[in-house]
Amino acid sequence: MRLLTFDHIRELMRQYGLQAFLKALTERLASDLSRWDEFNKSERHATHYEHGVLELMPCSDLTHYSFKYVNGHPGNVVKGLPSILSVGVLVEVDTGMPVLFTEMGILTALRTAAVTALGARYLARSNSSRVGIIGCGAQSEFQLLALDNELSVQQVRYVDIDQNSMTKFSKNLAAQGWSMYQAQSINDILIDVDVLVTATAARKKVILFQADQIPSGTHIHALGGDCPGKTELPPDLIEKATLVVEYLPQTRHEGEIQNLKAELKSIELHQLVKAERQGRTSEDEITLLDAVGFALEDFSALMLLNELAEAYDIGESIRMLATPPDPKDLYGFLVN
Ligand SMILES: NC(=O)c1ccc[n+]([C@@H]2O[C@H](COP(=O)([O-])OP(=O)(O)OC[C@H]3O[C@@H](n4cnc5c(N)ncnc54)[C@H](O)[C@@H]3O)[C@@H](O)[C@H]2O)c1
Repeated sequence: MRLLTFDHIRELMRQYGLQAFLKALTERLASDLSRWDEFNKSERHATHYEHGVLELMPCSDLTHYSFKYVNGHPGNVVKGLPSILSVGVLVEVDTGMPVLFTEMGILTALRTAAVTALGARYLARSNSSRVGIIGCGAQSEFQLLALDNELSVQQVRYVDIDQNSMTKFSKNLAAQGWSMYQAQSINDILIDVDVLVTATAARKKVILFQADQIPSGTHIHALGGDCPGKTELPPDLIEKATLVVEYLPQTRHEGEIQNLKAELKSIELHQLVKAERQGRTSEDEITLLDAVGFALEDFSALMLLNELAEAYDIGESIRMLATPPDPKDLYGFLVN
């Protein structure tokens, strides 16, 4: 079994390239979504506490089974910990043998950004170059880098309630050569964007802006609302947008659409990839990807990571499992 720690993943990203990984992951995700029916899919198993959520996210096809453990604790940052901590496991279906055990906080940020890029491919106007982001936390830089692979970002407007987050964000992205504008308010962002990412963390229902503040033609990628009781958008905005979700049974109670009184027509992202449905159909419609994070995205990320770790010979081979020479002599293997 291969073990990948944070240090291994950082080394792989140094060698392969972060931007290249995001690009490869976006394509891997598109390819996996195009074979949607081959996957065993289920909603994640979430255990809720007042201050956070602990989740298990399984997904499998005929050859591999994956699962991720991930939390969501918006209050962690004041304790000096990330809001999101995660580990993932990849298993060979033929034998049930786990082949990869890995740190997955970084991979979660990367796959979340790949979803944003893929959504923008089908939902943003083709000439989009101005991106706005509300919430400059752990996910934020990855979002911009992935979008740049799709859109050729030129201008970034950003805002956060925390000045330190905004300073960190602009410093981290300074080398990209984009025009960076620190907005004074959310309103100051909305006036001049093609694509808007909402990536705030609060364990409550928040309304970041009103529906009539969103200019026609904007594509919104809402990723901060990903749990029951945790949302970012006003319901009337969802009602007027072309709505895309990842996996409706899960999004229905975790996404922005949990706040709708009646069921709305929506498109699942895989339907756009397979060209079964059309995303944006006009320059002036508002499009919305109500992203909550789905286990198939983690499956794609784990598969790509495992292949690259093997190709670059990165990670540690660990004897973690009890595999006695005589498979029936587990006791002897332990005590002798
Ligand atoms: N949909 C998905 O697949 C997915 C994946 C990863 C994270 N998430 C969610 O995305 C959100 C961001 O994740 P993160 O890891 O960047 O969290 P984080 O805690 O690192 O950052 C969140 C940022 O939002 C800011 N913020 C909070 N309320 C705000 C407001 N009203 N206006 C402006 N800024 C505000 C905070 O100051 C912080 O800088 C979280 O809610 C997380 O649960 C979703």
